[in-house]
Amino acid sequence: MAHTYNYERYEDMVTDPAWRKRLLSLNKALAKTMHGMDELPSLNGNLFYAHKDLEFIEGELLERFEVKRKNFFQLAKHISSLLEVGVNGGHSLFLALSANPSLKVVGIDVCEPLDPSWAPVHKYVPAAFRWLKKEFPGRCTFIKGNSLVELPKFALKNETTVVDAVHLDGAKDTHLRELLAILPLMNEDGYVVFDDANTKPVRKGIDQVKKLNIARPRDLSHMGIERTPGHRVFPILNAGG
Ligand SMILES: C[S@@+](CC[C@H](N)C(=O)[O-])C[C@H]1O[C@@H](n2cnc3c(N)ncnc32)[C@H](O)[C@@H]1O
Repeated sequence: MAHTYNYERYEDMVTDPAWRKRLLSLNKALAKTMHGMDELPSLNGNLFYAHKDLEFIEGELLERFEVKRKNFFQLAKHISSLLEVGVNGGHSLFLALSANPSLKVVGIDVCEPLDPSWAPVHKYVPAAFRWLKKEFPGRCTFIKGNSLVELPKFALKNETTVVDAVHLDGAKDTHLRELLAILPLMNEDGYVVFDDANTKPVRKGIDQVKKLNIARPRDLSHMGIERTPGHRVFPILNAGG
């Protein structure tokens, strides 16, 4: 069933039993795709749960990512279009779509376990695509494939599309290349979100983006966005559009 949420505050959303029920429905849909496998159902790390958390279905949201989630909620309230690299179980998109009933999203995921340490993304990411499309009809577009191939293709095929924010949450060493690929579509008042900004390869990507003057940190407290080390939100300075 389609859902339109309109929460004023992040706290209103996460404490709403109806929203919790939808989250449980998403988690059950993901877990169902992993039944019968040798390992118990688990997901790659995300904004809600730790990497391979076996309790994710009914588990509590990861405490240490509370600020990341709040920031993402606040950002979603200020934009109309979001492109995400790395959809995984769909949790960050579920959060963003719940925060803003007018938001439209494009999600890209490789849907293949590129590393043996990953959870079975080939099983559950397509289920996340299906669940989000059903819950938020007309608001989601999904692309299966490698961001380094799919983003330049998307930019070429959708020259008139405007992207207000891009969430870089796929591979950690591809952020500069991903941002450059999508830059021609970026709103000149747009934002880039670097997840895992405390890791070495993402820090390197952020330095490159700053040196090239593509985006820079700025105080975004007027938008309700706090500075937090694991996740940085920068306004775009140099959009291509
Ligand atoms: C950290 S998870 C994303 C978490 C998600 N954004 C959330 O918070 O709910 C990373 C995802 O990126 C995908 N991924 C990794 N490298 C990729 C690439 N080069 N292109 C597209 N997707 C990629 C993986 O399949 C995985 O689902």
